[in-house]
Amino acid sequence: MEKEPSIITIFGGGGDLTWRKLIPALYNLYLEQKLPPQFAVILVDGKAITEPQMLTHLQKGVSQFSAGKLNPSEWKTFSENIHYLKGDFKKPETYKKLNQTSKDLQKKWNQKAHTIFYMATPPSLFGVIPHYLQQEGMSQDLEYNRLVCEKPIGYDLETAKSLNQSLNSCFDESQVFRIDHYLGKETVQNILAFRFANPLFEPVWNRRYIDYITITVGEAVGVEERGGYYDHAGALRDMVQNHLMQLLCLVGMEPMLSFDANEIRNKKVDVLNAVREISPDKVHESAVRGQYYEGRINGKKVPGFRDEDGVAPDSQTDTFVALKFFIDNWRWQGVPFYMRTGKRMEKRASEISIHFRAVPHHSFPPEASLNWMPARLIISIQPVEGITLRFQAKYPGPEMHLRAADMIFNYQNEFHTRIPEAYETLLADILENNQTLFMRSDQIEASWKLLTPILEMWKKSPPHDFPNYPAGTWGPDAANNLLAQEGHSWPHPTDLDH
Ligand code: BG6
Repeated sequence: MEKEPSIITIFGGGGDLTWRKLIPALYNLYLEQKLPPQFAVILVDGKAITEPQMLTHLQKGVSQFSAGKLNPSEWKTFSENIHYLKGDFKKPETYKKLNQTSKDLQKKWNQKAHTIFYMATPPSLFGVIPHYLQQEGMSQDLEYNRLVCEKPIGYDLETAKSLNQSLNSCFDESQVFRIDHYLGKETVQNILAFRFANPLFEPVWNRRYIDYITITVGEAVGVEERGGYYDHAGALRDMVQNHLMQLLCLVGMEPMLSFDANEIRNKKVDVLNAVREISPDKVHESAVRGQYYEGRINGKKVPGFRDEDGVAPDSQTDTFVALKFFIDNWRWQGVPFYMRTGKRMEKRASEISIHFRAVPHHSFPPEASLNWMPARLIISIQPVEGITLRFQAKYPGPEMHLRAADMIFNYQNEFHTRIPEAYETLLADILENNQTLFMRSDQIEASWKLLTPILEMWKKSPPHDFPNYPAGTWGPDAANNLLAQEGHSWPHPTDLDH
């Protein structure tokens, strides 16, 4: 069946996200014929530039960031569907013009179009834009009008609740697509496939066989050009509240009954509701914060956080977080889930490690098991994309010596196909009106509910030791102690190379 026409309006169309991610993703979808034959992209922004200037700028973005090669004739036909509408987000005239443009296009196509409103703007506008859309009558059609919201959704539980209320006063929840781009990553979606399309692992996916789980999302980059934003957010808000909590949900959730969007989202919310809340007096036992000072990454000297543009010289903002959670249900009782994320780590490496319990009885002679270690399943999210099962094998030779060996699944080697960018998948799903990979309001609030007490406690007792880790490392020592006190350890960073 031919796809119905769609008009994608991007508020903040002159911004970085549009340039780096959204237009390159739409261009790839166009090349792969995943856009409807009749589509338009309307970029709304206050920038005083002409449409041709905007298109030249976007073309440069596509040639720099798009996976599909920039082909001048394809770009020409694609870009004929892009329109620039200069306007103030806070003036009703902007929305009147937008409505008119949208009506004109639908008249030209002689068909009703799906209208998608994408807020790629600072969060201060998330409460404003939907109201103007509603006033202009562009939000009421449950099937045809959609709203897309980028993170951050709120600054804490209270602000997230009031933002959700405000969004839902203009658009029904079934029309709202809150983006967490991690959910668009193939390796993240594959967690569900791996767990629930194979009968092999699910029977051991519980407290009987699993000792602990670590989730690492390490970045080598600093705050890039976003020092101003980041200094007000910090790692807990920027990464944990959304991306890491999503990973926790996917690893911890119960099997879904069907692939229905709400069914999957219900199962994820169940996980968050079962996570034991960290009371204020326990924050220091379960949460570690860090901030980097200057150091070296790949032999190159990099500045400390406080020396980055837009960051206060005495900033107390966390650029690293490590946390310990427990999930209070039958499956996970007593199994610690540790997560850590940070800027300026030794390298970019994100992985989930399932650390299995030791064998109940050591039957091998002691000299056989000098290098013995419990089995581990490593789900590599990026830049390595795949899954590794690390187990004990007999090392060749006359004696019985055990050593770790790997069974490796690597996306590139296995499938020989291009792995789509997260934004391609997410935009295609929005066009298809499929909310599976998007965050529902209750999930956002459940996540903030767990993290807000930590933020409040941290605010009450500012760190005494910031900055406390050199760039190019895996964070402060306290992050290791968090695990060591339970006899656990983070997987050694070199392991992340497998
Ligand atoms: C964003 C954060 O959500 O995710 C950034 O705001 C971070 O600070 C980015 O760098 C990481 O995304 P990825 O896909 O590169 O892991």
